[in-house]
Parts: sequence; C-alpha cells; structure tokens
Amino acid sequence: MMLQNRLPAYFPTALMAVVAGTLAYFVLTFLQPRALVSAVAGVMTVVILVFGLWPEEVARESIRKPWVAGQYVYSNQVVGADVPGMGVKSEIPRIEAHGFLRTHVFVPQDQRQVTDANRVEVGRTLALATCSNCHSLSATGMRPLRHYFAGNHTESEIAEYLQAALAGGNTLYMPQIPLKDDEARALAAYILSTLPNAGVNTAQAGVAAPAKE
Ligand code: HEC
Repeated sequence: MMLQNRLPAYFPTALMAVVAGTLAYFVLTFLQPRALVSAVAGVMTVVILVFGLWPEEVARESIRKPWVAGQYVYSNQVVGADVPGMGVKSEIPRIEAHGFLRTHVFVPQDQRQVTDANRVEVGRTLALATCSNCHSLSATGMRPLRHYFAGNHTESEIAEYLQAALAGGNTLYMPQIPLKDDEARALAAYILSTLPNAGVNTAQAGVAAPAKE
C-alpha cells in the first residue's frame, strides 16, 4: 500500500527480487562452500553492492523531505528560508507578492502572463518548475501527479486545493508553493489536461489514490 503511487510500479517486485537473490546466494554458498571461488565471490560482491544499494537509494530519494540543502533550499530550487549568517534571503515573500511566473528565472518570456491561449502550457511550466522534482508529470515514474487527482474535480476545486495545501507551507513533505489565483487555475487546467478523460482518472495499474480532502 505504502509503495503505491510513491514509487515506480515495478519497484516492490524488484526490491523483493534483490532480497531473494541475495538470500539465495548466501544459502547456496552456505550449502556449497566449494562454489565460492574468488571469481564468483568477486562478481557477486559487486552485484550485491550495486543491486543492494540501488533500491535503498531510490527509496531514500523518494522520501526526501522538501529541503535539498540544510533547511533553506527546497528541492525545487526555491530558497525557502532566511539564513542570516550567509546573507541568504527567502524567496517566498517575493513569490507571494509577485507570483511564481514573474519571479522564477526560467519561465519563458511569453509565459510570464496567463492568457486564455497559454494557460495549459503555463500550467505545465509551473508543474515542471515546482512539482516535477518529486512528482512525475507522466503516467509512470515517481508519484505521478495525475494519480492524486482521481475522481471528478473541477478546475476551481483543484486550484483551491493547490492554494490551500501548498501556499501556506503546512504540508511537511512538500515545499511552500504560493500560487497566485491565475497561476493556480493554470496549473489546475494542466493537471486536468493530463487526466485520461478529463476528471475521471483511470490511471495505470489501478493505483489511482483519491486525493485527500
Ligand atoms: C519535495 C517534494 C515535493 C514537491 C516539490 C511537491 N510534492 Fe506533492 N507530495 C510529495 C510527497 C512526499 C507527498 C506525500 C504523499 C505521497 O508520497 O504520496 C506528496 C503528496 C501530494 C498530494 C497528495 C495529497 C497530500 O497532501 O498528501 C498532492 C495532491 C500533491 N502532492 C501535489 C503536488 C503539487 C501540485 C506540487 C507542485 C505544485 C507538489 N505536490 C510538489 C512531495 C512533493
């Protein structure tokens, strides 16, 4: 259950395969010590090191809390807290005042303003810049964003959720992401556009989790 949504679908199976393989190797060499010539031992040491570390690293990265650098740089690159000793200032007040689109350096010039024509595209830019470091924007990969919006939600409901849950920074595992009204609507429009049939989420492998209320 815990692994659903959070990690790629193949992950639990792969993890179990690594554990089973390692155990099998130890049991085998316990029963057949003669099989343990140095070439086999050498290869297996590398195999166990690589495949033993890999799931652990993936799991560790997947549960990384919002900070990527000591409680002041969020993993989406936004500086989220003051560090007086280093002269570092939080970018949050500036984002709150002017919006993400006008303050983020990598937003294309023609997307600084939300218009009827570009809103889904702007929403995608916002998702890329603020969510994609933790939520995959496709149907596979790490915590796909679309899996959290199963069910029938309107654009304004999603926008409201985004502003309530993320704007205040009250979600411990996500960065504070203040979005202006038009930015939240654009991001909501983009999220809706990724759902299979606008609002009815039939996401892969039936793991669509209902978004928390
Ligand atoms: C630092 C990583 C990170 C970033 C950035 C991030 N999230 Fe999350 N998000 C998480 C984690 C961790 C969870 C916890 C639950 C889980 O793993 O399913 C989560 C859960 C959610 C949920 C489920 C409801 C909840 O509150 O648990 C939604 C919806 C969501 N994120 C949307 C977003 C959106 C939209 C953005 C970008 C605007 C975003 N997240 C940015 C890490 C992140």
